[in-house]
Amino acid sequence: MNQSELLDMIGRAVGAVRAVSDQPWRVLVVLGSGLGSLADEVSGAIRIPFHDIPGFARSTAPGHGGRFVIGDLFGLPVAIMQGRVHFYEGYPLWQVTLPVRVARAMGAHTMIVTNAAGGINRAFNAGDVMLITDHINLLGLTGANPLIGPNVDSLGARFPNMINAYDPDLRQQAAEVARHEGIDLKEGVYAGLSGPTFETPAEVRFLRAIGADAVGMSTVNEVVVARHAGMRVLGLSGITNVARLSADEGEPPSHEEVLQAGKVIAPKMLAIIRGALKRMTTRQS
Ligand code: HPA
Repeated sequence: MNQSELLDMIGRAVGAVRAVSDQPWRVLVVLGSGLGSLADEVSGAIRIPFHDIPGFARSTAPGHGGRFVIGDLFGLPVAIMQGRVHFYEGYPLWQVTLPVRVARAMGAHTMIVTNAAGGINRAFNAGDVMLITDHINLLGLTGANPLIGPNVDSLGARFPNMINAYDPDLRQQAAEVARHEGIDLKEGVYAGLSGPTFETPAEVRFLRAIGADAVGMSTVNEVVVARHAGMRVLGLSGITNVARLSADEGEPPSHEEVLQAGKVIAPKMLAIIRGALKRMTTRQS
């Protein structure tokens, strides 16, 4: 994919979105497994299935819808991404991250990204929500970064820095909302892997040793592209299972377990997102 092909791809996708709704976006909300219900609260909702947008991949993962829901949420023009695609589904990283680039082109300056993750920090339990303070992009560190290839200067700088990739002010806002709502919000570092295999116990011990508190199969690529584009990012992980440090530590993780824990996590995560959006509305006015 060269620069003009990428710009053309973004342009055609934006054109398809604008043909349905020309309303500018302020915030992109990426909903992970089992969190689709926030989209029900959008007023004047317009739904655009990903299969109507040129270049968009279709999600094959269970629990992922595959559409934008555009409208107003607590007074802010938002686009909710119901269902994301993952690298493990076989799509190239430019395609995994295309929705973020479209969101930026539609005017979004902030991305709230959520995911399901395995807990590595032993203070975490299944059902917890973790505020992402930083990430370890294991795909990127091993040569699969979505920004590899010719840089498009009109989208962002060649060497974007990833310090405070998760916006300190938004983190503070989220922590205050959680406190106010009586939610025990954990904090930590998210390690992003490709999946689709869950980790071996040796890999979990490795991840713990390098400073990861949680592990998952998404998010880092979207965050890299959002930061490249100058967007502010708030990241939240739902801890759906405790990652095993040894083979005899308990039941192995399963996708069912992930979806089940999502039911406990969803109300907390949604309360934090709701509070964060409300604060953004208040602050902008
Ligand atoms: N590992 C990787 N990804 C995950 C996990 C896990 O244990 N749980 C939910 N997503």
